[in-house]
Amino acid sequence: MDFFRRIMYMLLLLLECVCIIGVDTTGQTPLNSEDKATSRNVAIIGAGSAGASTAYYLRKFSDLAGVPVNITVFEREAYIGGRSTTVNVFDDPSLPIELGASIFVSVNYNLMDTAKELGLKISGAGGDRPAESVNMLGIWDGFRFLYLQGHSLSWWDMAKLLWQYGLAPIRTQRLMKNTVNKFLQMYKPPYFPFSSLSATVQALDLHEATGVPGAQFLESNGISESFSNDIIQSSTRVNYGQNLGLIHGLEAMVCMATDGAVAIEDGNWRIFSGMLDSSRADLRLNTTVTAIKQNSDRSMTLFHSSNGGSTSRHTFDEVVLAGPFQYSNIEVSPSLDRSPEKIPYVRLFVTLFSSPHQLSPEFFDLSDQKDVPEMILTTLPRGFNLGDREDGVGPAKFWSISLLRIVEASAEDSRQKHYVYKVFSPEKLTAGFLASVLAVEIPASDQNGTIGDISRNDISWYHEKTWHSYPYEYPRMEFEEIRLASNVWYTGGIESFISTMETSSLMGMNVAGLMTNEWHDKLHLGKPVSWSGWTQQRNNEL
Ligand SMILES: Cc1cc2nc3c(=O)[nH]c(=O)nc-3n(C[C@H](O)[C@H](O)[C@H](O)COP(=O)(O)OP(=O)(O)OC[C@H]3O[C@@H](n4cnc5c(N)ncnc54)[C@H](O)[C@@H]3O)c2cc1C
Ligand SMILES: *[C@@H]1O[C@H](CO)[C@@H](O)[C@H](O)[C@H]1NC(C)=O
Ligand SMILES: *[C@@H]1O[C@H](CO)[C@@H](O)[C@H](O)[C@H]1NC(C)=O
Ligand SMILES: *[C@@H]1O[C@H](CO)[C@@H](O)[C@H](O)[C@H]1NC(C)=O
Repeated sequence: MDFFRRIMYMLLLLLECVCIIGVDTTGQTPLNSEDKATSRNVAIIGAGSAGASTAYYLRKFSDLAGVPVNITVFEREAYIGGRSTTVNVFDDPSLPIELGASIFVSVNYNLMDTAKELGLKISGAGGDRPAESVNMLGIWDGFRFLYLQGHSLSWWDMAKLLWQYGLAPIRTQRLMKNTVNKFLQMYKPPYFPFSSLSATVQALDLHEATGVPGAQFLESNGISESFSNDIIQSSTRVNYGQNLGLIHGLEAMVCMATDGAVAIEDGNWRIFSGMLDSSRADLRLNTTVTAIKQNSDRSMTLFHSSNGGSTSRHTFDEVVLAGPFQYSNIEVSPSLDRSPEKIPYVRLFVTLFSSPHQLSPEFFDLSDQKDVPEMILTTLPRGFNLGDREDGVGPAKFWSISLLRIVEASAEDSRQKHYVYKVFSPEKLTAGFLASVLAVEIPASDQNGTIGDISRNDISWYHEKTWHSYPYEYPRMEFEEIRLASNVWYTGGIESFISTMETSSLMGMNVAGLMTNEWHDKLHLGKPVSWSGWTQQRNNEL
């Protein structure tokens, strides 16, 4: 979403990045009490961003507190990363592409810091795109392009943008910065670590944004409907599969916070893998937790099985549920004090494929191949309001199609250029749709078929995946509890506030902070951790 950064940057010479690194010098002094060498046994269920971050920060915080911990991470899949994972074009490990979460941004402190600390290669998002087309980006409403942008914004483009949208881009940028700055308070005291997300959202006035649909939030902040519909909604659709009549104002702002969009070369999951290594957790891949029994002595017994084999059990002092509870299929007995409510999640189809063909200009009513944008986002036609409907894709029928990169395919011994595309859609793509978007001929009887029915000469490789990708972000002021029972912690509630890798990581870090506090306050283990001291140390390391 690099283009927003460029629009905003070029338009807004006036606004400087606000570095809100406040330093609280009233940090606590450590108590003199001797550390009790009692090791805490912590189980984390899930090796995605939330689980890996819980482990990583718990190791750091428990070291600061001087409390020994034994961390075990259970993951039912064979890989680390959860919704952040890659697949390989042509099954070639040198050609990984993201199947889930693909970008993060410079204000994503946890991901940025850890990527640097781990020495991972960070690259600009979309950096592999070949720039063969005149247009980097186009916003399609199913009938026409409402907006087209080249690879750099000329003064002429800017003049057109201002002509088209007036002050809306500037107002949006200002509103976004203001909102993001409130959010960033959550990383440091007096907010961090927070025991209630609802209370923190309220204290930071963020409920004004989460409590109303994006459309209303933008309107009440003086942002024109045309800019909201054409630009902001194309972003809420590619990022969340939702229109502005549904998604709340905060998530709409998150979609515009695209400054410094980056990705980890070879896969964002490497951050989470590095975090787990550094936490020295005992990682159990291919291991599904099926049940948790809360014992009378407050310990918990986990029942788990590997690759469908027999069930084994282990007992822990603390359990962290690090993923959406509703998809974990874990039975808890006796039942939790507070069970997370089941909420609707977006069902997103991701189709990755390679082809010697490029997107057809005819499909988009363009005359020249060179004009077909490399990234096509979609929105609703102006005045076509679907309100808060979940099936809100509208006439465009897909959320986005983007060219990721060019690869060399060997076809009949001659090296050939193939284009790798990613499509987000609410339904599985039919052979007929793909054939027409690539302008290839297929028999009429295959129209309703699937991508696999298209000849290998036209689609040389593909991978399809259906995700429960993120919640429908309906406006709300109350969020799921972080603590579900005395020693059962939950990260998933943050997804209906903001659903990203970074926010899951923030919640993992927060759970680690709450747990460490409690060990001292309730169990008198170790010394208290000074959160202001920790924040300061962290800022110094940057
Ligand atoms: C297609 C797509 C695109 C996205 N794009 C972006 C993006 O560009 N930027 C961004 O920041 N975010 C993006 N997101 C959202 C982001 O992926 C998620 O918000 C984030 O990865 C969630 O992390 P998590 O750890 O909370 O959950 P998950 O990644 O879902 O991790 C939960 C883990 O728990 C495991 N688990 C569940 N139950 C059990 C059990 N019973 N036993 C053992 N293990 C279990 C699961 O297998 C899973 O690995 C995208 C998501 C999708 C699907
Ligand atoms: C997980 O299971 C798959 C097969 O289902 C196997 O290929 C893989 O090696 C296993 N990984 C681990 C770490 O056990
Ligand atoms: C850590 O926990 C695992 C899983 O319960 C257990 O097998 C192991 O013995 C524990 N190690 C220590 C040092 O307590
Ligand atoms: C494809 O599906 C449509 C609608 O479901 C149907 O009308 C049409 O006859 C089908 N075509 C073929 C070739 O099966």
